[in-house]
Amino acid sequence: MTESATGQPVTDDAPPPGATPPPGCPAHPGAVSLSGLEFQQTPSELYRALRRRHGTVAPVLLDGDIPAWLVLGYSEVSYVTGHDELFARDSRRWNQWPAIPPDWPLMPFVGHQPSVLFTEGTEHQRRAGVITEALEAVDQFELAQLCREIAEALIDSFAGSGQAELMTSYAHALPMRAVVRLCGMPGGGSGDTDDLVRDLRISLDAAEGDDPVAAYLRVQARIERLVKDKRSSPGSDITSRMLTHPAGLSDVEIVQDLITVIAAAQQPTANWICNTLRLLLTDDRFALNVSGGRIGVGQALNEVLWLDTPTQNFIGRWAVRDTQLGGRQIMAGDCLVLGLAAANTDPLIWPGGAVGAENSAHLSFSNGEHRCPYPAPLLADVIARTAIETLLERLPDVVLSVEPHELSWRPSIWMRGLTSLPVRFTPAAR
Ligand code: HEM
Repeated sequence: MTESATGQPVTDDAPPPGATPPPGCPAHPGAVSLSGLEFQQTPSELYRALRRRHGTVAPVLLDGDIPAWLVLGYSEVSYVTGHDELFARDSRRWNQWPAIPPDWPLMPFVGHQPSVLFTEGTEHQRRAGVITEALEAVDQFELAQLCREIAEALIDSFAGSGQAELMTSYAHALPMRAVVRLCGMPGGGSGDTDDLVRDLRISLDAAEGDDPVAAYLRVQARIERLVKDKRSSPGSDITSRMLTHPAGLSDVEIVQDLITVIAAAQQPTANWICNTLRLLLTDDRFALNVSGGRIGVGQALNEVLWLDTPTQNFIGRWAVRDTQLGGRQIMAGDCLVLGLAAANTDPLIWPGGAVGAENSAHLSFSNGEHRCPYPAPLLADVIARTAIETLLERLPDVVLSVEPHELSWRPSIWMRGLTSLPVRFTPAAR
């Protein structure tokens, strides 16, 4: 019997004989490529297959056949995220850097940046503490009011037509506008803010013909200007609170961390909104409730975090020294991908087979020192809930304009979100 680092026996899901990788080399013949298209529509099948074959920690290949470990078990993901002395965030300790080309597609996520994301120990506590306190001071009622205004304005732009594609015209736009406003930028209608929102979208999620690098540089220049402006005339916003925090972060650090906050908020919250709308519009259990307005929205939001969580897999952690996990030998510098979606559906925590959604013990916001900073999930909940409730109130007979099986997921193993969410409804006046 093998023992995982958490002390759990892994006999049930133990890898078949011969599948054990050579020490320190996760790129053994059984490693599965995460970049292929095969499982991108049905990642739960991939997690099931990997778990059956490899147990709770599976050898996988990232783009370009770069080896890594995918941590699939609830207990193992909790262990990795809870032990930053063993599994840490600074990607510069990766033992695969000599094999990584400069234009590697995952570089934006693993290339070291001087932001809170890659800091460790006391430096992380200092940076994350400033973000936490700046977010904690956001008034949730005021945020709900702000989101309602943004939602109303977005709905006004398509309500008269009787149809909309909610992914672009609503779910992505709303959290971006809300977070930019929380950071102290002027509201909608300001060309400056609209440019920032557009450039953020391009830099996070470039479409064909976009130039994400140029867009990112414009975002950085705009945030630098925001920080300079708020230094001379602070207000009641996240940026000003970060600038006046006693930890005394430099302007360069604040620019990096503001971009991280905005980017970290946008994509997952947008996909949380869209995945929840999809559930409400396709699952019979919610049909009656939806037509009644708000009932069921909270339940659907929570169910999505268990079953279709926006950040399915997250890169990651890097082993500080040789260690064991899930019966595997992990070598110093190995990369571990946090399999958040797989952990949420781990059969060891759902022995009956059916995944429930009664509580919020999922790992969708991760765990431990680097988890999504405490007030952020609450703010994301206010944004997502207000977005969905306002839409259902304004367009009470909204339905999908395609069959549910025609909806397709974005071809990504990292973010779980739809390519589009087309709907129709009775045209409504402003
Ligand atoms: C207002 C909305 C949000 C804000 C401001 C926000 C902010 C952040 C920040 C600053 C971090 C970096 C933490 C660190 O490294 O110390 C982070 C990490 C993370 N966030 Fe959020 N976030 C938001 C919404 C969400 C949502 C909706 C999800 C998913 C449902 C999510 C999932 C995560 C995950 C998985 C991480 C990585 C944690 C890790 O490394 O273990 N976040 N978030």
